[in-house]
Amino acid sequence: MDFKFTPENIERINKEIAKYPVKKPAVMATLYIAQEQNGFISNEVIKEVSLLLNMTAEEVLGVVTFYTMYYQKPMGKNHIQVCTNVSCMLRGGYEIWNQVKEKLGLENMGVTEDHKFSLEEVECMGSCGTAPMLAVNEDYYENLTKEKVEELLKSLSQPLS
Ligand code: FES
Repeated sequence: MDFKFTPENIERINKEIAKYPVKKPAVMATLYIAQEQNGFISNEVIKEVSLLLNMTAEEVLGVVTFYTMYYQKPMGKNHIQVCTNVSCMLRGGYEIWNQVKEKLGLENMGVTEDHKFSLEEVECMGSCGTAPMLAVNEDYYENLTKEKVEELLKSLSQPLS
């Protein structure tokens, strides 16, 4: 199925393109917007981005596969990223990682069958001063304890009213 950007997103992308003398440097922002719209970077997205930015599909794919923030498959509605880098690790990051893994029954980059959750182990997310931390989509949860994680997972499991 073809992928087309919404008119609003085309406007956002044009603003990114306008920051540079050529279109190519806008590729990361364009992919980010594409992922926001589509949920992941499909082959159709790659084709559309390459056409838009005068790049080859291989060049766009190279960017997608280099950076871990782009997903090539649909992730869960709640994409949980647990940091296990140094500051978080020293303050219990692996305990949190194992707790979430066990609770959701997922390995790294796994997605639950109902697509409600996906899980990813990540490097530093710039929140070392409030380690250990995890993110659910764009929201950070910091100074975590096992109890706080338990509570968070419980609240995310609630059906929407
Ligand atoms: S080490 Fe976890 S946020 Fe920096």
